[in-house]
Amino acid sequence: MKIFIDTADIKEIRRAARAGLIDGVTTNPSLLAKVVGDANLADYMKEITDAVEGPVSLEVLATDSEGMLAQGRDLAALADNVVIKVPLTEEGLVATRRLRAEGIGVNVTLCFSASQALLAAKAGATFISPFVGRLDDISHEGMEIIAQIREIYDNYGFDTEILVASIRHPLHFVDSALLGADIATIPPAVLWRLVQHPLTDRGVEAFLRDAEKARIEIPSAQEAEA
Ligand code: G3P
Repeated sequence: MKIFIDTADIKEIRRAARAGLIDGVTTNPSLLAKVVGDANLADYMKEITDAVEGPVSLEVLATDSEGMLAQGRDLAALADNVVIKVPLTEEGLVATRRLRAEGIGVNVTLCFSASQALLAAKAGATFISPFVGRLDDISHEGMEIIAQIREIYDNYGFDTEILVASIRHPLHFVDSALLGADIATIPPAVLWRLVQHPLTDRGVEAFLRDAEKARIEIPSAQEAEA
């Protein structure tokens, strides 16, 4: 399963890229609004696309298909790895078909049902983004639609990739992998929690303590050869 980072914070994106943890980035207007400040938006977006090799989702603000198409073309011109995020509305599906016909990647976002996901795949979406956390918030089992979408896409051989979004905790990540999702997009706070385990920290401390007690040091390559 691929991992994307769900943030527009360039420091977090660079940190995750340095650790080799991420295959792409997803942003949305709310995430950009938190970090962009007075920076030029195009320059800021360019910094993000330069920071990773994989796809970077940038979202349109227009709500009509013509506007989405125009904004999508502008965003796609920023870098080769830009994917256009459009909402799962009637207009968004029209824009998806047209952007895909122009060879531009599309991430259809704000998906809350398997039926919506099927329509997005038929429109040619590159990625479908079901928001599991926001479904949990309204007492629906968010992960259920991931299982449904996986089954439907497999039934018909759709190559739209399932990009699980609105991930709130490590179990969403594990369940995404168990259900065969293609990608999980993870906010930095959750991503770093995936790495950590108290037993790992305790184990490292014990190894170092024991090595120090026995005055063990790692021999250099020259020492090992001698
Ligand atoms: O990728 C979509 C994600 O950013 C939404 O997350 O936590 O705002 O529901 P959340």
